[in-house]
Formats: sequence, structure tokens, C-alpha cells
Amino acid sequence: MSETVKLPIVVLVSGSGSNLQAIIDAADSGLPVEIRAVISNRAEAFGLTRAERAGIATAVLDHQAFQTREAYDRELVRLIDSYQPGLVVLAGFMRILTPQFVNHYRDRLLNIHPSLLPNYRGLHTHRRVLEAGDREHGASVHLVTEELDGGPLLLQVRVPVEADDDEETLAARVLSQEHIIYPTVIGWFAEGRIKVRNGTIQFDGKPLEGALTMPFNGFRDAG
Ligand code: GAR
Repeated sequence: MSETVKLPIVVLVSGSGSNLQAIIDAADSGLPVEIRAVISNRAEAFGLTRAERAGIATAVLDHQAFQTREAYDRELVRLIDSYQPGLVVLAGFMRILTPQFVNHYRDRLLNIHPSLLPNYRGLHTHRRVLEAGDREHGASVHLVTEELDGGPLLLQVRVPVEADDDEETLAARVLSQEHIIYPTVIGWFAEGRIKVRNGTIQFDGKPLEGALTMPFNGFRDAG
């Protein structure tokens, strides 16, 4: 193995952490990242257990202990920065972030959202897709800006909606694809294929104008 410099990352979770698990597994399989810490706003988040099992440092910062969103985010920045990450990865971190937080991590703050953005920002995306009768759904990895679920798109995956889907089956199909696209994009950062400066994205040395798209299961099929 060559001595690849690993990209230090910090991952933020609020719940199950299955995307975190996909990143841990990818790192175990050679993705050149070092997960320095997993931080949660909820002590009971299963993502913390996943991190502990993988020998990764964890921290809990309970939002209920703070009077204001600004005070919480200030402390969160202090905590994250103590790990000196090159990239901050939101993986089911269910908090609205202050502009101060977002601007502090400008160009190095990633999120994954379970819809084909700009469609279905916000919560309950699977239910809303089913209610609308859409035939296609998906997930998006994007840079985070002050606009909720509105930052520049990097990679999307399209997922078919089946006639007999309910919220649960559709969510599971989308999540299985999130587990492919999130480590993929993080790998692009780690390998220097994506570079972001002042919100301008270069992918393989060329400006990235819109989202790259991965077909359903495409990455796995391609080996
Ligand atoms: C994922 O579906 C992720 O896209 C979504 O939360 C889930 C977390 O699952 N994030 C958002 O909705 C953010 N707006 P996980 O904890 O198993 O990774």
C-alpha cells in the first residue's frame, strides 16, 4: 500500500447512522479518510454505538442544554474544530444550522438528503413523493449553504418508485443508494478530484455546473 495522506473528517449524526456505517466500511476498505470523531446532538443515537464499535472517538452535545441555536452552534464549532477536520460530514444530523456555522465550514461541509433536490426539501420526503404519485425518487449529496437543503449539488442517484411501495420500502431503497453515493463523494474530496473554493466547484479540474448523476445501483453494477 502506498502512503496516501488521509483526509480527516468529522461526522455528525442524530439517529441510526447507517450512512456513517457506510463511510466506516468504505474507510475500512481503503477510502482515504480518517474519521476523527462522530458527534451527535442525541445521546441515544445509534450512530454513536456504531462509532464506538469501530474505535472512533465520540462526543454528545445535547441541544436541549442550550438557550439559543447560536449558542449551540458556537459550542459545536468549538468541538468539531478540536478534531481539525478537512471535511465535515452531516449524516442524518437533524438540525437547522445557523449562518455562522455554515459560513465557518464554507466549502467543506457536506450533507446528504433523501430526495432529488431541489425537489422535496425538508422532512418526510418519501411520504410526499408517494402522495404526489411520482415514478422516480432519489437522494442528493450537496454542499451546505445558508439555504436549507439548497446548496450546490454534487452527486444524485435516481431511484424507481414501485407501484406497491409504502414509505418504508421506498425509504429503504433510497437509503441503500445513499450508502453508495455518500462514500463516493467523500472519496472524491479525499482524492482531490473535487475542489471547492468560495463556492466554486471543480471536478477533475473542470467546473462542475450541475449534479453528477448515478443510476440506480449503478456503482455496484460497475464493480
Ligand atoms: C438519511 O436518509 C439522510 O438522507 C436523512 O436522514 C437519514 C439518516 O439515516 N437526512 C436528512 O433528511 C437531512 N435533511 P442514517 O442515520 O441511517 O444515516
